[in-house]
Amino acid sequence: MHVHSYEKIWLGLALGLILLLIGSVTYGAVGPGVAMVAADQPTVDPTALDEDDRFAEPRVERVGENEYEAYVVAYQFGFSPDPIVVPANSTVTIMVTSRDVTHGFEVVGTNANTMVIPGEVSTITVETGEPTEYGILCNEYCGAAHHTMEGKLEVVPQEEFDASNEDGDGDE
Ligand code: CUA
Repeated sequence: MHVHSYEKIWLGLALGLILLLIGSVTYGAVGPGVAMVAADQPTVDPTALDEDDRFAEPRVERVGENEYEAYVVAYQFGFSPDPIVVPANSTVTIMVTSRDVTHGFEVVGTNANTMVIPGEVSTITVETGEPTEYGILCNEYCGAAHHTMEGKLEVVPQEEFDASNEDGDGDE
């Protein structure tokens, strides 16, 4: 079969585009800084979060010396708690689930970024430094007000964290 040279160029370009697409999809799936939901995470019933020990009361809890766990619920169109207040210079494991549709959880300016899927618990561990404040964004389209869905992560001095937790749920 005779193929004109300009047709060869177009064929080559089309092939190149296909390879580029496959490449970018692969990179998106395994690329650095993107936490995917692990298959072995405990699952949760998104319609019964009220009855779940972790998510009935979204909060930040101390689990060890300088170790904390944050239980966060994403919903249309926000995050709870908001702000998420964590102590400085600590290890914080953030567990996020959704009570409605798929959302994103991205701590702006860091590589803490995960998808939040109803029925799944996404886990990210962060090391906090000095007191500061981060924005949290939803980066998965989740409905009409997706672009307004945001939260705050506040890193506060240890004393401030302890004080605010004492007059909170009083379990200290
Ligand atoms: Cu939640 Cu977009």
